[in-house]
Amino acid sequence: MPAVVIVGAQWGDEGKGKATDALGHAVDYVVKFNGGNNAGHTVVIGTEKYALHLLPSGILTPGVVPVIGNGVVIDLSVLFGEIEALTSRGIDCSALLVSANAHIIPPYNRTLDKVIERFLGTRKIGTTGRGIGPTYADKMNRIGLRVQDLFDEHILAQKVESALDQKNHLLVKVYNRRAISAEETVEHLLSFADRLRPMVADTAKVLLDALDDGKTVLFEAGQATQLDVDHGNYPFVTSSNATSGGACTGSGVPPTRIDRVVAVAKAYATRVGEGPFPTELSDEHGERLRSVGGEFGTTTGRPRRCGWYDAPVVRYATRINGLTDLVLTKLDVLTGVEHLPVCVAYEVDGVRQDHFPLTQSDFHHAKPIYEYFDGWTEDLAGARSFDDLPKNAQSYVLALEEMAGVRISAIGVGPEREDLVVRHDLLG
Ligand code: GDP
Ligand code: IMO
Ligand code: MG
Repeated sequence: MPAVVIVGAQWGDEGKGKATDALGHAVDYVVKFNGGNNAGHTVVIGTEKYALHLLPSGILTPGVVPVIGNGVVIDLSVLFGEIEALTSRGIDCSALLVSANAHIIPPYNRTLDKVIERFLGTRKIGTTGRGIGPTYADKMNRIGLRVQDLFDEHILAQKVESALDQKNHLLVKVYNRRAISAEETVEHLLSFADRLRPMVADTAKVLLDALDDGKTVLFEAGQATQLDVDHGNYPFVTSSNATSGGACTGSGVPPTRIDRVVAVAKAYATRVGEGPFPTELSDEHGERLRSVGGEFGTTTGRPRRCGWYDAPVVRYATRINGLTDLVLTKLDVLTGVEHLPVCVAYEVDGVRQDHFPLTQSDFHHAKPIYEYFDGWTEDLAGARSFDDLPKNAQSYVLALEEMAGVRISAIGVGPEREDLVVRHDLLG
């Protein structure tokens, strides 16, 4: 039975939540391994719409054990807020497991995230303001707080005090803010300890034992390949490894145990926040994609920047993640576009480049070279097999498959759970 990783191929919001949920009936565990509540994964089940930020999408399927791995950063007020909101809608969250090694986002890092962005001015990243960057920085700087620290009040107080010793200098002297109280911070964090304790487990061991028992484990990435701190458009990235390697470091499951790596890609492209985006459209085509595709952030509500499909970006995702399959989503959003441009290569300072540029400066200067495909006007909503798709939609998918260098195993034709054309079983 397989261990399957789901990642984003582009800049996030590709429909990872929907893809994860679609496999829910056939998996035993769903693991979030990176990021925090910067993610927003939408799942639509009938008339119900769920926006998940910190909990893995598998939580919506009865019988699935949701796991928050060590690579995640947890805002405890968001975690319990989300659990309460789902519980009040009849979702059972009692099986949730949380790694003792996951890091906690203390309130002071939320403050710092926002203050630093404001300080950067026009050079800002456009973060979600959730404290993600400062918390991963603390982790690497070895001044972070972990879930297990909540169960030793003395240690917790020591760690908060030494972190704030540094941060209060910054807040007061550099950013002209008030100092934050260590006692109040500790008290706030401790208020979650009793509720958190029953969920805490050695999740790396739980997952490996599950795989040894023949169970199916799905790893659900937050963010995406182009937002990965190592392999994305640094510095316009998040602060974690959102690519497939992150599933191992962020869960404790070794690489030798991963069977499949699936990326989700939109049939066009979107991006939230700052950073290069060669196929971005600032005309009526971009407006159309935004309104038809409902391209507004699940987390911050910001309008997403929209553009045409960028094949070198997805080909890069195939390579970096070692993809075995691609899920192409939102094909239905392209219905009615007469000629569909696809970026097949870039022109960088007058020279054609077929692959992803080596340097960030080149990517900033990259101009898309387009190939055009004939569109279709038929509604895709009811399509359930590849043959149900209009011929031109089939040709578009097959062309993207060729360019991606990996098979397109499923195609999204609408937001709902059932709006999916499956060509190859992702768990088989
Ligand atoms: P994630 O962060 O990768 O999970 O993606 P988001 O949930 O942030 O954004 C994807 C949006 O597209 C959500 O509103 C989904 O309900 C919606 N969606 C997913 N797949 C499809 C699809 O095939 N067609 C349409 N029309 N909407 C989709
Ligand atoms: P999902 O999982 C899209 C972007 C932010 C910003 C950059 C850094 O829903 O695909 P951060 O708050 O992480 O320090 O912000 O990353 N970003 C996302 N964009 N989808 C996401 O998650 C994102 N998570 C972070 O907009 O540009
Ligand atoms: Mg999202």
